[in-house]
Amino acid sequence: MKNMTHALTASTLCVLLSSLPLCATAAGDPASGQSKAATCEACHGKTGESVDPNYPNLAGQHESYLIKALSDYRAGRRTNAVMASFAANLSNQDIEDLAAWYASQDGLKDLSIK
Ligand code: HEC
Repeated sequence: MKNMTHALTASTLCVLLSSLPLCATAAGDPASGQSKAATCEACHGKTGESVDPNYPNLAGQHESYLIKALSDYRAGRRTNAVMASFAANLSNQDIEDLAAWYASQDGLKDLSIK
């Protein structure tokens, strides 16, 4: 019984009650992220499959990872001259929307080692 109580963490409850706003895991809106991603397209591609090996693929990446990466660039915790300037003017909502958009895309399909 003790273990069972222990297992009922907030996240377990939120899986069961995911319709409650309190339990919403992501505040990002993918559709709005898609339009905001127009400025990112030149490097990261239309859906996050990048156009060049110098640019990381974002398609299918974890939403939490994308949120962290963008907020780290914005705060200067992760330093990259190009991304610093693109992240500088993003609001928290922009970051969440962009992350939701790229995370909702399919990941890479070609898994061969080259
Ligand atoms: C001019 C090209 C260019 C544009 C435009 C651009 N990026 Fe980037 N992006 C890069 C490069 C280069 C990196 C890798 C930087 C590094 O090594 O940290 C990167 C890295 C990232 C990462 C981290 C990926 C990872 O795997 O850790 C995210 C997230 C990201 N960009 C999102 C965006 C978003 C969102 C936009 C639009 C607001 C955008 N980028 C616009 C070139 C670009």
